[in-house]
Amino acid sequence: MSDDLKIVTLLGSLRKGSFNGIVARALPKLAPEGMTISELPSIAAIPLYDADIQEEEGVPQRVEEIAALIREADGVVIVTPEYNYSVPGGLKNAIDWLSRVAEQPLARKPVLIQTNSMGAIGGARCQYHLRQILVFLDAMVMNKPEFMGGIIQNKVDPQTDEIVDPATMEHLSSQLSAFADYIRRVRA
Ligand SMILES: Cc1cc2nc3c(=O)[nH]c(=O)nc-3n(C[C@H](O)[C@H](O)[C@H](O)COP(=O)(O)O)c2cc1C
Repeated sequence: MSDDLKIVTLLGSLRKGSFNGIVARALPKLAPEGMTISELPSIAAIPLYDADIQEEEGVPQRVEEIAALIREADGVVIVTPEYNYSVPGGLKNAIDWLSRVAEQPLARKPVLIQTNSMGAIGGARCQYHLRQILVFLDAMVMNKPEFMGGIIQNKVDPQTDEIVDPATMEHLSSQLSAFADYIRRVRA
């Protein structure tokens, strides 16, 4: 069996110029050897959770698509901004839908959280709300090292779509290496 790790990223921002999007797209280059990282489809197409939609029309195709890709993956990296000291509504909505599909994709799934925001503490408050939500889903969220990208607007270049702050790249790279170790440890 191959020891390679297949990781998917779930982006919590919907906007085209998202700083979190820039960070998420930089992760493949920062990953350790033996880890491949690809982006999940956008959560923007997911309707607001409504049990009537689920009953009458079933789970939306985009949710099923994301759920299938998460099931196949060895781990998920959630890359998200903080909104009003908490989890952006679009991301919470996606997680609410994912929690309602058969064969729970996030149950026992290794998850890494990365927040990036324009505020100084980089979305720290969002992280703890997100962790609380993921407890209910029984996801296996790595505790440490954490990554909170503060003042992220000064650390990425929207023109080149790249991270320009070496310390941020270094921090992300070492967190991904720790995630690889974590996944191998928890599934051993
Ligand atoms: C509705 C809303 C709420 C926000 N709340 C916070 C917040 O609580 N903490 C913070 O650091 N930044 C907050 N911001 C600013 C975001 O950090 C900033 O918009 C960031 O660029 C969003 O990430 P993105 O570039 O990936 O879309 C908020 C922005 C919006 C639109």
